Amino acid sequence: MNITIGVADNSHLKFSAEICNMIEEASKKRGTGIAKREPEYIGKKISEGKAVIAIQNQNVVGFCYIESWEGQKFVANSGLIVHPDFRKTGLARDIKSAIFDLSVKKFPNAKLFGITTSLAVMKINSELGYKPVTFTELTTDDTFWKGCESCVNHDILLRTKRSMCLCTGMVCDPSTLQKNNQNSNQKAIWLDFKRFISDRKKRIQLKARDNPVLSFFYRNAKALPIHISSRN
Ligand SMILES: CC(C)(COP(=O)(O)OP(=O)(O)OC[C@H]1O[C@@H](n2cnc3c(N)ncnc32)[C@H](O)[C@@H]1OP(=O)(O)O)[C@@H](O)C(=O)NCCC(=O)NCCS
Repeated sequence: MNITIGVADNSHLKFSAEICNMIEEASKKRGTGIAKREPEYIGKKISEGKAVIAIQNQNVVGFCYIESWEGQKFVANSGLIVHPDFRKTGLARDIKSAIFDLSVKKFPNAKLFGITTSLAVMKINSELGYKPVTFTELTTDDTFWKGCESCVNHDILLRTKRSMCLCTGMVCDPSTLQKNNQNSNQKAIWLDFKRFISDRKKRIQLKARDNPVLSFFYRNAKALPIHISSRN
């Protein structure tokens, strides 16, 4: 397909509006709370060298950028988008890998984290070395959590006092990565992760039996299509 993936620079500023449109279209299609991004914000990320872009025939086909929280203690790779014509070809995996490397280079002491309901993102993250965690392990930076306000499920996050939501929280500490990678292969990591998700579902089901709020949310969540979070 001849796609070039690299760190975005000022020559890519012209794609800012198109990237926002792609994100908005994906959000509409899935009826989700993917946060709306403004072209100026995307442009700022590009100018700061905090974004990875995928180009084919001088067209943008994929994008992702870096955000940092709590004085650079935590870093998130946000706004991941792949043009619909190029999905399921491994492009998101390559973009995430490139933005992961860029994040570690720019923020060597940070932990990488994200919250998502996207199975594709969970899969890619676990291959990169992210582990599922409770929300208490994530940044406490209010600015990050404020970003959840545009999500359709925000009421759940409020009701649970930020302790849980439909998203799964994932963290990667790059400083421990090499050691871990020597001991495990990617398939085993993915199987572990799937086991975690299945156990989590059972735990929520059990809790829902005694908790009217959770019970309501769980009943409705099962009937709804999975929502993609804005935070990856
Ligand atoms: C999510 C998204 C970025 C995935 O992009 P992609 O280029 O299709 O992903 P890849 O081809 O790299 O797939 C990586 C893995 O995820 C799997 N995958 C991809 N899309 C999937 C889906 N919708 N459901 C389940 N698994 C999926 C792939 O099969 C692949 O696994 P495999 O190699 O074991 O088969 C893309 O669908 C998208 O842009 N969606 C709209 C925006 C969005 O949801 N962003 C993420 C916000 S959290």
